Amino acid sequence: MTYETLLLETRGRVAIITLNRPQALNALNSTVLIEMRQLLGELQADAGIGAVVLTGSEKAFAAGADIKEMQSLEFVDVFLGDFFCGWEEIAGFRKPLIAAVSGFALGGGCELAMMCDFIIATKTAKFGQPEITLGVIPGMGGTQRLTRAVGKAKAMDLCLTGRMMDAQEAESAGLVARIVDQERLLEEAVAAAEKIAGFSQAAVMMAKESVNRAFEQTLSEGLRFERRLFHSLFATEDQKEGMAAFIDKRKPAFKNR
Ligand code: HXC
Repeated sequence: MTYETLLLETRGRVAIITLNRPQALNALNSTVLIEMRQLLGELQADAGIGAVVLTGSEKAFAAGADIKEMQSLEFVDVFLGDFFCGWEEIAGFRKPLIAAVSGFALGGGCELAMMCDFIIATKTAKFGQPEITLGVIPGMGGTQRLTRAVGKAKAMDLCLTGRMMDAQEAESAGLVARIVDQERLLEEAVAAAEKIAGFSQAAVMMAKESVNRAFEQTLSEGLRFERRLFHSLFATEDQKEGMAAFIDKRKPAFKNR
């Protein structure tokens, strides 16, 4: 399957999706959304894939939702179509999804990176929610996910002034997990994805689901949820194998069973 706005490469159990609209700095239009949903659906169902890396170009991860496509829309169009709700499906992807960010991650681009499980960035990465400069506000989760990631002070600063923050500031604020050299970006992200894909898939997916629950419910409910998932992993062969391998001082051979 070929896509108009995306490139797909697989390396072992890792899929690499590259946003590919260089002429528009990877602005996210409706074709990107349709293709991302289709591709992630396929990767979700593919037992050979354990983790996914999402990246853009050196200049831009994505410079936001496509302003040229949005410009002429009316309230009824966006309201009746619940414009942007489809992007939430990306946040619902159940396998690990790592954002490898270089250059601009603005507006919807920043929001898309935040829908991923963690962000690895280069020193050139710039994050921001500049929607206010266009007379609108973030519409794909920016006011919510950014606030949870960096706290109220910085989220307000970014959403109200529209300024960008660099990779260093984003890492100190907790938005970015690691900063790596430009030429190592994809390698580092793929190495992380490969490592994750080598663990028991049920444990990996439950860890992701459980961390995400921390943003949805109270601490006591989250702890209970985590504990029940933890209990359920004792029904897997991989738990037996992982613990036996530790005791036998050998590498575990997980079977995703
Ligand atoms: C459509 C875009 C675009 C975007 C860039 N381009 N961003 N097209 N939508 N979000 C296009 C430009 O029009 C231009 O096309 C080409 O990409 C290169 O961009 P330049 O501006 O010439 O590059 P540069 O001078 O390097 O500036 C880079 C930039 C700037 C600082 C990132 O492009 C910029 O400010 N972009 C918009 C960022 C933004 O506001 N994002 C938020 C969008 S709203 P041509 O054809 O002229 O070569 C959003 C959510 C909205 O994401 C939520 C509403 C509910």
